[in-house]
Amino acid sequence: MLPISITQRYRKKYLVLQREETTIKATYQTTPTTAILEPVIEIYGRAPLSGEVRISGAKNSALAIMAGTLLCADDCRLRNLPALADIDRMGQILAAIGVKLKREGDVLDIDARNIGQSQAPYELVSQLRASFFVIGPLLARLGTTQVPLPGGCAIGARPVDLHVRGLQAMGADVRIEHGVVHANVKGRSQRLSGARIYLDYPSVGATETIMMAATLAEGETIIENAAQEPEIIDLANFCRSMGAQIQGDGTNTIVIQGVERLHTTDFPIIPDRIEAGTFLCAGAITHSEISLYPVVPDHLASAIAKLREIGPEVVIEGPDRVRLVPAELRATDIETLPYPGFPTDMQAQFMALLAVSEGNSLVTETVFENRLQHVAELQRMGANIKVKGNTAVVQGVPFLSGAPVMSTDLRASAALVIAGLAAEGTTVIQGLKHLDRGYEDIVSKLKGLGANLRRIEP
Ligand code: UD1
Repeated sequence: MLPISITQRYRKKYLVLQREETTIKATYQTTPTTAILEPVIEIYGRAPLSGEVRISGAKNSALAIMAGTLLCADDCRLRNLPALADIDRMGQILAAIGVKLKREGDVLDIDARNIGQSQAPYELVSQLRASFFVIGPLLARLGTTQVPLPGGCAIGARPVDLHVRGLQAMGADVRIEHGVVHANVKGRSQRLSGARIYLDYPSVGATETIMMAATLAEGETIIENAAQEPEIIDLANFCRSMGAQIQGDGTNTIVIQGVERLHTTDFPIIPDRIEAGTFLCAGAITHSEISLYPVVPDHLASAIAKLREIGPEVVIEGPDRVRLVPAELRATDIETLPYPGFPTDMQAQFMALLAVSEGNSLVTETVFENRLQHVAELQRMGANIKVKGNTAVVQGVPFLSGAPVMSTDLRASAALVIAGLAAEGTTVIQGLKHLDRGYEDIVSKLKGLGANLRRIEP
């Protein structure tokens, strides 16, 4: 007899489990939960998904644009804002600086007319690295500011030297004292001056800081080796909607002509490409046909290309909708890179998928130095992964098994949810503060697709 392939074995097991689904559900609903001290998500794996999921506004766009509203001494309205812990934190930081905010559903009204010299509190800045992005707009608008250094985080050291060097090139005097960055514009006009700035690395945050600061600077600023992420284009569109003069965003050279002031705007945030990619992985790992709306298919190009290599087809059904058609999963190699390369923010979710794809995959992380912490948790679920330096060698296994696991960072927790959806038995995910930072209503959205999971509060 020919040896049975991993995929065939996987399929057989999957079918048997699907047939037993009613029994599994009954067991799941009556299983007493062990004492918990913090919120957890409990997933009973193997439920097939179907239907359509709504994708929220992009977290990373929204964070930069919220900082960008500081440029405008007028009201701004942001639409399609996701409901996330990170967005709430950014709101608290703006409020601490004197901004008035009013949120109704996904609409946020921001009035930054009367911003003061008060410093964003370190407790908030340390929890949200993106809060450092206020430095550019504050300096451009007030000519002086103090922002605490955000410090490192779970995925790496994450310095801000490129932000600082960019602002210095535009004439700012920057000192770091007692963990706080003090920035002042020299001269009586207190206005930054345009400059030619080459970034050693196409940092998303540094490109955003410099671009925002340059909108109100005197003269022309050119950012070379700029980041090209869709969130950069969204921020540039937002600034343009207030009257800024920006060209070249989405390429590696951005040219900004400073203007004296910016005016009111009403601006919708783009859909979150990382949330969309996460749902595509959830569909692929459960062999399910699901649709995603709204999305910008172009923003998902590298994730779609990798999914096709792995097996599933992604059908682009219009300008803002895609459908995942499941298929057998096979290994592929992934290397994270700045956009348009494969996003570091999708690496963990794809690793969960490759953990049950037939064959050996290499996953190389080049953007952050410490972003393979999810490997240990996936191993607890039966994944066969070895790490050497910044590369993980993933040998596909027929199935994962549910286990208690701990989230280590935002995208790592999404990877554990994806693994849990496909695993045999119950997965209990702890450390939800990470997931809550970046996924709006993930439990309800997955339930809407037919997943068997619940959030349990202590
Ligand atoms: C943004 C995203 C984050 C994503 C990352 C890379 C937000 C809020 N976050 O983070 O989700 O994972 O882009 O796509 O938009 N670096 C320096 N010096 C600097 C700045 C960055 O050395 O001054 C390094 C970082 O340590 C990292 C690399 O550059 O190794 C990329 O970082 P960067 O693109 O700046 O990421 P963030 O803007 O922090």
